[in-house]
Amino acid sequence: MCGIVGYVGGRAALPLIMGGLARLEYRGYDSAGVAIQSPGGELVTAKKAGVLDNLRTAIGDGADLAGSTGMGHTRWATHGGPTDRNAHPHADGSGRLAVIHNGIIENFAALRTELESAGVEPVSDTDTEVVAHLLGAAFAAGPTAGDLTASMQAVCRRLHGTFTLVALHADRPGEIVAARRSSPLVLGVGDGEMFLASDVSAFLEYTRDAVELGQDQVVTLTADSYLVTDFLGNPLQGKHFHVDWEIAEAERGGYPTFMDKEIAEQPEALANTLRGHFDGRHILLDEQRMSDDDLRTIDKVFVVACGSAYHSGLVAKYAIEHWARLPVEVELASEFRYRDPILDRATLVVAVSQSGETMDTLEALRHARRQKATVLAVCNTNGAQIPRESDAVLYTHAGPEIGVASTKAFLAQVAANYLLGLALAQARGTKYPSEIAADFDQLAQIPDAVRATLAGMDPVRRLGQDLATAPAVLFLGRHVGYPVALEGALKLKELAYMHAEGFAAGELKHGPIALVEDGLPMVIVMPSAKSHPMLHRKMLSNIREVQSRGARTIVIAEEGDDTVAPFADTLIDVPIVPPLLQPLVATVPLQILAAEIARARGYDIDKPRNLAKSVTVE
Ligand code: M6R
Repeated sequence: MCGIVGYVGGRAALPLIMGGLARLEYRGYDSAGVAIQSPGGELVTAKKAGVLDNLRTAIGDGADLAGSTGMGHTRWATHGGPTDRNAHPHADGSGRLAVIHNGIIENFAALRTELESAGVEPVSDTDTEVVAHLLGAAFAAGPTAGDLTASMQAVCRRLHGTFTLVALHADRPGEIVAARRSSPLVLGVGDGEMFLASDVSAFLEYTRDAVELGQDQVVTLTADSYLVTDFLGNPLQGKHFHVDWEIAEAERGGYPTFMDKEIAEQPEALANTLRGHFDGRHILLDEQRMSDDDLRTIDKVFVVACGSAYHSGLVAKYAIEHWARLPVEVELASEFRYRDPILDRATLVVAVSQSGETMDTLEALRHARRQKATVLAVCNTNGAQIPRESDAVLYTHAGPEIGVASTKAFLAQVAANYLLGLALAQARGTKYPSEIAADFDQLAQIPDAVRATLAGMDPVRRLGQDLATAPAVLFLGRHVGYPVALEGALKLKELAYMHAEGFAAGELKHGPIALVEDGLPMVIVMPSAKSHPMLHRKMLSNIREVQSRGARTIVIAEEGDDTVAPFADTLIDVPIVPPLLQPLVATVPLQILAAEIARARGYDIDKPRNLAKSVTVE
């Protein structure tokens, strides 16, 4: 959360920074702000609570913000409400230094008390302002006086927590100093100009040459140079890389929202995730850095993740246990390390994360590694912190996901987890090679099945309009349909701000059935009649139970399932696929349903309230 952009070069900084912020707004939209070094030697700032457009309006033609060195920030609030006063940049007492920040300074309360005892009167409620005052003091006097880089190094040594910090000082024209610990920061190297950003999409238009900054590093930028050091001032080598994403990939491509576009991209995201992972005989996890021998030593798997990624782990449990005969536990990353799980060298911890930045998941994997478990990241973001800190990585190739609600990344996570399940089965010999080949072949047909599902979604869109005024929606599933039900409910909560709950259908009679009343919409994910006849029969009974209590039944069932039709007020067909793979098709209508209900209720589908795309605080 929080997006950061910096620019130093020969052009007007403001338009470049505002353009970069627009691309990073998905990271947080509680407020936005900029600081520019003016040609007159002053630091000029502008900031505004709310979305970036509010700042744009406040800035007007930007005449006050001329200058070719500057930085910008888009905020997801942690310390201090989303107000003008708490918006970044934050200044020191002199007003000649400004700081922007992504992350949390955990020892900020102690530092603030120390500053207050020294006579500083903070003007905001943020942890960031504390850094501005410390940095201002370090620059003003003492051993680091007049040296912004050394001041930054000294201040960072005092900070606990996670942070990307960027600072400008009016007395250091044409210089930007930044630091990072855990929160993301990349440097873009242009011709006579340099960029800094939380991710490359902010500067891709201007340069594809990038430098990845490591943990606990400080970088000092001028238009023609950059210097990377550690927090003690020792020089370090930045890691260069070339970005080959197309900028159009990160844009809406004609769809009304990123989420609509990302839903439509799911067949391609799945195909890209599966591509290159089967050579006709073997499952290949070539980014995995784990040999078959390594996989054979595993005797237990934990999947740790949050939100939708956690739901992908619940699906993985069914597949991995069935295919590889290995016990799998699925844990919310935020609970994992506090529970003292039993881990050892034979434990594989799979950390699933679209962003690769989720702090709960990152801390869970750090805990696992400290306990000597092997950690495999399943991640969509190349070079992000979670894969960097893992022993091995299996990338999903869903492309950038901008909509806050996860769609194509979720399906790609499910597919990657299946690949892992097949790789474990292959290594452990729990499946014959011919079975692995057949399973992969079925997986490879899924992109077409998702395409077919997407082609039949008009009735779901109409249903969405119809359900816009419902007070709540309940979701029921069994087997792999259960995580699908949870995912459908999560989508509806986060997009439509509607009360929604997912249940294992068997649990209904243990309590949730008390919620059922006349007209309550209930979405039921039907197991396959052919492959799971017993579960199918039980689910039919569950539908009868809720229908007889007045529920409005919306049933997702495989094509040709005639037995369920009499019990469905609305029947939504999905293509027939192998039962374990059903989540890849059955989730799609639920994504579209949530988006349509949210649209009908007039909400911003890409930027649901209170949420951020990457949750980089615990
Ligand atoms: O980037 P991650 O996959 O680690 O994110 C995990 C969750 O924050 C994420 O899936 C969240 O639940 C989505 N908003 C759900 O749509």
